[in-house]
Amino acid sequence: MIFWTLFIGIGALAGGIAMLIKPDGSILQMQPLLPYFQVLPFADALFQDYFFSGIALLLVNCVPNLIAAYLLIKKKPAGIKLSAILGVTLALWIIIQFIIFPLNFMDIAYFLFGLIQALTGYACWVFYRQSICEPKLSDYKNIGSNKSELVVYFSRLGRARKAAYEAADKSGAEVFEIKSKERTEGTLGFWWCGRFGMHNWAMEIEALPEALESYKKVTIVSPVWVFHICGPIRRFCELAKGRIKNADYILVHFQPAKYNSAKKELDSLLGITGGAFTSICSELGHNRVM
Ligand SMILES: Cc1cc2nc3c(=O)[nH]c(=O)nc-3n(C[C@H](O)[C@H](O)[C@H](O)COP(=O)(O)O)c2cc1C
Repeated sequence: MIFWTLFIGIGALAGGIAMLIKPDGSILQMQPLLPYFQVLPFADALFQDYFFSGIALLLVNCVPNLIAAYLLIKKKPAGIKLSAILGVTLALWIIIQFIIFPLNFMDIAYFLFGLIQALTGYACWVFYRQSICEPKLSDYKNIGSNKSELVVYFSRLGRARKAAYEAADKSGAEVFEIKSKERTEGTLGFWWCGRFGMHNWAMEIEALPEALESYKKVTIVSPVWVFHICGPIRRFCELAKGRIKNADYILVHFQPAKYNSAKKELDSLLGITGGAFTSICSELGHNRVM
């Protein structure tokens, strides 16, 4: 996003200044294009040279993109929304150029840049909304009061952690976080997890809870990765097979689906018939039971 905002913003700065220095368009060799502007409204007043176009370029594409870059660098979420809107603005701007100019390479390229900027902004926004979940263990006072139950979870972005804390707070169970030996953090971690998800691979984990067999019930909380339970929980279940007598399952995911198949998957990995199955949709920051 920072690349696109700087690329478009600095490009527009150079173009806008060139138009203001030489409004006849000679620096950018744009004199032959001026007649095409005459179909636009108020062309008599605004498009007899490139002065107004230069101002418009600076105000619409340069300054807002540079502001968006600044906000993104400062990690302000408003920068994500602003740059996505500016991507759409650029694409719309170029659509006007498609209408008035003969088809040319630069217009096609900048139209695609606008679309890519808008789509990147959308992806950043989804990632951002997914990552703003940081439950605090200290807020759940009842966790650990019932030593006969355990809640086991894996979480990249906190949603499964929140579901695990809530379940443990309700029953008083102890909690255990499964940690992966692979990289799972950040955007690179997302793609790496996706690889494991696509192949349905187990992901190596650091440690198992001690005395797993001593718990009367274990609740397993897993995010959904590519329509299945996540890799670290898959590995946990493989290692825990034969050591868990009763299990409940909680699945946390983005899409508003139930993912019933995950229950069968967990049953078969653990070699038992599990109890309660809860499916939680964490779409854009709101947790709701499906
Ligand atoms: C690699 C990967 C694949 C995913 N695939 C799906 C999916 O197929 N369906 C879905 O609803 N959510 C999918 N998600 C979204 C997660 O299930 C969702 O964001 C969940 O809340 C993450 O839990 P966490 O915040 O505890 O990490 C995927 C997430 C990752 C990282």
